[in-house]
Amino acid sequence: MHHNERVNFGSKIGTILVAAGSAVGLGNIWRFPYEAGNHGGAAFILIYLACVFILGLPIVIAEFVIGRRAKASTGEAFNILSGGKPWKWVGYLGVLTGFMILGYYSVVAGWTLEYIYQALSGTFFGKSSSEFIQMFQEFSTHPLRPLLWLFLFVLATHFVIVKGVQKGIERSSKMMMPVLFILVVVLAVCSIMLPNSEKGISFLLKLDFSKVNSEVFLGAMGQAFFSMSIGMGCLSTYASYFSRTTRLSHTAISVGLIDTFVAVLAGLIIFPAAFSVGVNPDAGPSLIFITLPNVFQQAFSDLPILAYTCSVLFYGLLALAALTSTISLHEVSTAFLHDKFSLPRKQAACFITGGSFLIGVVSSLALGDWSDYTIAGMNFFDALDYFTAKIMLPLCGILVALFVGWYLKPEDVKDEVTNYGTLRERFFPVFFLIIRYIAPVGIFLIFMNELGLL
Ligand code: TRP
Repeated sequence: MHHNERVNFGSKIGTILVAAGSAVGLGNIWRFPYEAGNHGGAAFILIYLACVFILGLPIVIAEFVIGRRAKASTGEAFNILSGGKPWKWVGYLGVLTGFMILGYYSVVAGWTLEYIYQALSGTFFGKSSSEFIQMFQEFSTHPLRPLLWLFLFVLATHFVIVKGVQKGIERSSKMMMPVLFILVVVLAVCSIMLPNSEKGISFLLKLDFSKVNSEVFLGAMGQAFFSMSIGMGCLSTYASYFSRTTRLSHTAISVGLIDTFVAVLAGLIIFPAAFSVGVNPDAGPSLIFITLPNVFQQAFSDLPILAYTCSVLFYGLLALAALTSTISLHEVSTAFLHDKFSLPRKQAACFITGGSFLIGVVSSLALGDWSDYTIAGMNFFDALDYFTAKIMLPLCGILVALFVGWYLKPEDVKDEVTNYGTLRERFFPVFFLIIRYIAPVGIFLIFMNELGLL
């Protein structure tokens, strides 16, 4: 392998947008607003911010250190840096986790395409709330229709991946991310201008510490990790394409700020709109796929063209956000096959595309015809989500912190963080302290909480 010849992202802004593209996804647009709304609004956001900046960012930097130091995707990076010691399994575990997330994440990503299609063909007009519920249930449990969209979504991801690191991943992020920023801002402004939107804003922004308990704190940490793509080597794989002059701290902070910005704006789209028409902010998938089209219809009942435009833009936004995330998940496994088995990129990508499509098919059917087959009482879709997000991510996150904090030589870590001694990075001792002690303990707490052991 010619590690020195590894491709790099071409520009500083490209590097930031690619990493932010991985972070900004379905996690920001449906999970964050719901979590924030249910856990005391502004109080949750404050704790979330603390988690992003105190715990999350150091781990992001740690993943960057691993990827750029090894100049290899996650699967191989641990192997290279540990000289083949059992640490290499952390990398393999990360690849496997990413591959599984890609499978079921693509199913939901595919749903966004169906909703763009429905929004474009104007079928939302005149539907009642119960018709929206029925529409979502019929679609998501249909044996074939979601598979078609899943296939298209996986294909779109594949198409970007085979174009390569600079021409595919970097170029697509540079085009999609600015559009995404404009869309979130436009939609948030529309939503805030609705009558009675203040109720939604205060729901999201009014400090209410009465709801804060340890569960909120741990929930906020979990959300911060999922949302920033921490814990399975997405970020270290991308970091293997960083150039020697990419400043790891600044890149991490930019990603944290962009990710948080989009999450907060997504809340500002969803809650004012929902409260404006008196719809209760509901949990998870239904908020995005049932409540929201309903909200747009009711909010702009006098102006159908606005309802139409908002629906199309919103699902377009969701699809873009999901796509930049599936690209990052796909790249982890593709780069692994490429680095480890020297498969040509195209061939590696075909394997991963085929494999993730298969997992997607099973996850999708698990919501309909195959819902009777269960693992630990959950259908395959829910089981995958639970196992990857709630068990694998925290576990890999702890291992990343321990690897960088205790296994790598502190001089080497410092060398990487300071761009080989060319930057001062005075925060280094704080970073190292967090990575050694605070992060492993913090993640351990999330882990136990999510497993219900705390
Ligand atoms: N962060 C993305 C989101 O918010 C999802 C995602 C992409 C992810 N890559 C990841 C989550 C790696 C965990 C690990 O939707």
